[in-house]
Amino acid sequence: MKTELTRKHLLGIRGLSAEEITHILDTAESFREISAREIKKVPTLRGRTVINLFFEPSTRTRTSFEIAGKRLSADVININSSSSSVSKGETLLDTARNLEAMGPDLIVIRHPSSGAPHQLARICRAGVVNAGDGAHEHPTQALLDALTIRQRKGSLEGLRVAILGDILHSRVARSNAHLLTTMGASVALAGPGTLAPPGFASLVEGGTSLRVERRVEDALEGADVVMVLRIQRERQGSAFLPSMREYAVHYGLDVKRLSLAAPDAIVMHPGPMNRGIEISSEVADGASSLILDQVANGLAVRMAVLYLLGGGLGTMAAPNTTAALKIDAVTSAETPAESPLESHKAAANAVHSDISK
Ligand code: CP
Repeated sequence: MKTELTRKHLLGIRGLSAEEITHILDTAESFREISAREIKKVPTLRGRTVINLFFEPSTRTRTSFEIAGKRLSADVININSSSSSVSKGETLLDTARNLEAMGPDLIVIRHPSSGAPHQLARICRAGVVNAGDGAHEHPTQALLDALTIRQRKGSLEGLRVAILGDILHSRVARSNAHLLTTMGASVALAGPGTLAPPGFASLVEGGTSLRVERRVEDALEGADVVMVLRIQRERQGSAFLPSMREYAVHYGLDVKRLSLAAPDAIVMHPGPMNRGIEISSEVADGASSLILDQVANGLAVRMAVLYLLGGGLGTMAAPNTTAALKIDAVTSAETPAESPLESHKAAANAVHSDISK
């Protein structure tokens, strides 16, 4: 049966069905072959324009969206906050309206505020792709993680996944919690109480497949997949941690802790890594690590996303797929329930209620 991606934007994983996720992953799988060719280019998006609008630093996401667009023959324009007129006081929405006037087909945006891509999607004719918004979602990261797991494990269904570290500030953890539970995996989140509040267990509606453990050892027990998150030093405004050294001792993934997981467990990290803090070099560079496979799959996933959203210009055949696309509107279900400020307040309340227990 042919599945269609009936969306104009990719704003988050929350709300995507298992069929839509599988369709994106299957499409990405078909695009991996292009990157193995001598001439790594196909004409699929010739004549389309993709703008990468990045208001936060990025190595992997920005570069892979740029390469993905170029391999599909799109015209790709990169704008970052320091080189845009936002640095002169222009608002995000005014910037977006001005870019819109130039007729792009897709806008890929990373922004420190949760909900910024949703604001763009409300006013833009172009399709909008969320490349990471504050602590809200990072959908293409979760998709590339899923592709990497699927390649090694065959399926996501029934897997036990441990996500360790700074859950509170992590858009990667949120997107992965939605994706993995939708696909039938069970997820254990673990970290210091300040960074992994028990309230996160209710992130996924009506699900019993998401839990929060206080001890990383309890989350690691028998895990098939271990995802380690970066300690986001730039977002540690309050005293979330006594010290990085203490974090490494009590929560960092080293060989001894990893031995609690299943013997064939795989280790993942979205990057950038703080070696010696959340993950030891021995684990990061060890036989279980798929960290660079994640990066390679990021390119295939972003090619698939650009292709499937493609600017809403009709049906296009990808290698080995008969994908089609339709257009729909941004629905309230795709909008973060909380404003960035509310989200910050909610996070702070969750932390304080957790500390006071
Ligand atoms: N994983 C990730 O988003 O990395 P970058 O910040 O380098 O894009």
